[in-house]
Amino acid sequence: MKKFTAILLMLVMVLSLAACSSSTNSDSTTTKGDEKPIIGVTIYKYDDNFMSFVRRAIENFATDKASLEMNDSQNSQATQNDQVDTMISKGAKSLAINLVDPQAAATIVEKAKAADLPVVFFNKEPDASVLASYDKAWYVGTTSSESGVIQGEVIVNAWKAHPEWDRNGDGVMSYVLLKGEPGHPDAEARTKYAVDTIVAAGIQVQELELQTGMWDSAKAKELMDAWISKHGDAIEMVIANNDGMALGAIQSLNAAGYFEGDKFMPVVGVDAIPDALEQIKAGKMVGTVLNDAKNQGKATFELAYNVAMGKDPLDGTEWTLDDSKAVRVPYVAVTIDNIAFAEEAYK
Ligand code: GAL
Repeated sequence: MKKFTAILLMLVMVLSLAACSSSTNSDSTTTKGDEKPIIGVTIYKYDDNFMSFVRRAIENFATDKASLEMNDSQNSQATQNDQVDTMISKGAKSLAINLVDPQAAATIVEKAKAADLPVVFFNKEPDASVLASYDKAWYVGTTSSESGVIQGEVIVNAWKAHPEWDRNGDGVMSYVLLKGEPGHPDAEARTKYAVDTIVAAGIQVQELELQTGMWDSAKAKELMDAWISKHGDAIEMVIANNDGMALGAIQSLNAAGYFEGDKFMPVVGVDAIPDALEQIKAGKMVGTVLNDAKNQGKATFELAYNVAMGKDPLDGTEWTLDDSKAVRVPYVAVTIDNIAFAEEAYK
């Protein structure tokens, strides 16, 4: 009887051990198979036209792979700092940060470091020294100066092909320039390199106005309204740091009777957002520069996902990192001649 009880006891033990280990197994299978890593993402503000396309691309590439904590920082760095704290406490495995203020990168790096979390900055480039200060920090964006050079080339080609745009025939291109956010690497570089490229091509220029429209259509329209009433037809070229502002300028020009009959004003932007492509097709915009939202979103997601999974940031991707740990997606000139290519890039 004693022997029988002992065997029974042993059997119970074995069975309960088996039950226990099988439940552990099934738990770990669930974790591995179904749970996606949480990736914390911030967009500096949702109502930025170009960034809405980058956000869409990140979301599309994340489908089935990761669970995104997507935040609108509403153009407030303080809000973004709080969002980063919240994402860390919610268990994010990596951060993808579109800074509000490019100078705030060090604060974000401090937070990421303290939590031992990798961070991928995108679109607003932090100082190289900040990226270098943390081995788990990277950047996805562009080479800002390239967009200025390409925009300058688009302007040079068009200006040379249209001598009638020099309305007063003085051999000088009198321009107004709508600048993006001051201190933003893209705004600073586009402003400098677009004009430098025009001058380097041997075209004399006169700057009638240069002010910031903060990347924003409505602000650009207000500026352009004021400039048209001040300078009228003396304006011979509108250079905008982005398409959003170029579209604002076009609204103002429409209201002032441009683009009817012989009354024309050349307007050039950067981004190649779909609304700008429509204006190129309508003959109201001379050209733009493709800022590849889809590929920047793709690279941002791929790097953030890889590092969330503990892998090398470039694992299985087509990207390369430069000396400052940055992936730089190229810009491309866009005019009516290659419009279909640009339309494809934003699909
Ligand atoms: C630029 C883009 C602008 C604006 C800005 C926001 O690259 O050309 O339209 O979106 O980023 O940081």
